[in-house]
Amino acid sequence: MHSLGFRVNALLTLGVTVLALMCVIASLSDNLSVPSPSANVQVLNFNWFQKQSEGNEEVSLTFKIAADLQSMFTWNTKQVFVFLAAEYETPKNSLNQVSLWDGIIPSKEHAKFLIHTTNKYRFVDQGSNLRGKEFNLTLHWHVMPKTGKMFADKIAMTGYRMPKEYR
Ligand SMILES: *[C@@H]1O[C@H](CO)[C@@H](O)[C@H](O)[C@H]1NC(C)=O
Ligand SMILES: *[C@@H]1O[C@H](CO)[C@@H](O)[C@H](O)[C@H]1NC(C)=O
Repeated sequence: MHSLGFRVNALLTLGVTVLALMCVIASLSDNLSVPSPSANVQVLNFNWFQKQSEGNEEVSLTFKIAADLQSMFTWNTKQVFVFLAAEYETPKNSLNQVSLWDGIIPSKEHAKFLIHTTNKYRFVDQGSNLRGKEFNLTLHWHVMPKTGKMFADKIAMTGYRMPKEYR
């Protein structure tokens, strides 16, 4: 017959083993859920164009973002920060990045959204490169976990172009 001490010890060992196993399963499940986000941005209108007094060009856009970032949300996700950036090349810079819109997604229920908006932040070029300019729209996100490291990723949408002529 086992002594009481031995049985308590065995129980304790079992408890610790189960706990360790649960931790492994939890982190595995976090690893295994490969996110499959989707995003689509449609530029609906170029509202206006202006040349600032220093010569920098500015444009106003209306666009529609349809995104589904629900797969970013796991048991370990606190919130997700998203922003939409216009990215384009100029003779001076190989990458110009202008943030047009951003938001914080607090939960999975809010991670599938359709937003119809004008640019929240000003789209100003450091020069006069915006006429007929090709650009990409990239949806970036930063996933803030409850524990562990933050991670970031993006979806790039290509093939947008500014009008050559403005009123
Ligand atoms: C989970 O992912 C992290 C970082 O990508 C990696 O270091 C770790 O080995 C992975 N764990 C498992 C159990 O696959
Ligand atoms: C848009 O993205 C594509 C693919 O990543 C890239 O080849 C191209 O240079 C980008 N265009 C601009 C204007 O940044």
